[in-house]
Amino acid sequence: MTKKKPAAGPGAPALAPEIRPGQSVELLKELHILTREGKLNQDSRRKLKQVYHLFQFIEKILQELQTSKVGEGGLTLADHGAGKSYLGFIIYDLYFKALKTGHIYGIETRAELVQKSRELAARLGFERMSFLNLSVADATQSEELPARIDVVTALHACDTATDDAIAFGLQ
Ligand SMILES: C[S@@+](CC[C@H](N)C(=O)[O-])C[C@H]1O[C@@H](n2cnc3c(N)ncnc32)[C@H](O)[C@@H]1O
Repeated sequence: MTKKKPAAGPGAPALAPEIRPGQSVELLKELHILTREGKLNQDSRRKLKQVYHLFQFIEKILQELQTSKVGEGGLTLADHGAGKSYLGFIIYDLYFKALKTGHIYGIETRAELVQKSRELAARLGFERMSFLNLSVADATQSEELPARIDVVTALHACDTATDDAIAFGLQ
């Protein structure tokens, strides 16, 4: 019988230096940033760099809000046109996970992507993430979202989704 190698700890293969302490290796594999063996190839190294670049701007805003204007349940973020919820998952993993408070809402019209994101969040134990099968415009009126959303993101949202996300943010 062969012994399975541990994913972390002594005896585990060394992770690439780009992977931050506490970052979910399972998530990065699901997002195809890491290979099944936990390795970064050149394409995924570039992809991760882009994600970190974007995240540093969002992190700054989250930190500012965190010290001044957080509601009772913590920070809330709505990611519109979430697709596979790539951005929402990374923000949760790098920021919300350690806070033990706050919530991320992924808004997406494609039901199968919403379902997949729900399943992935459940597998990763990302309990403060919800995925809503709604259009951005409908999300503005939806009772599935809290009255207060602190941060709105919409990465590569297509057609009118970016305009609708701005309208959502203003509201
Ligand atoms: C190009 S993908 C971007 C996905 C993701 N934000 C990313 O950057 O990887 C755009 C996504 O927005 C969704 N979408 C388009 N119009 C929408 C709308 N009005 N409301 C909600 N989702 C929408 C599409 O189904 C698609 O999954």
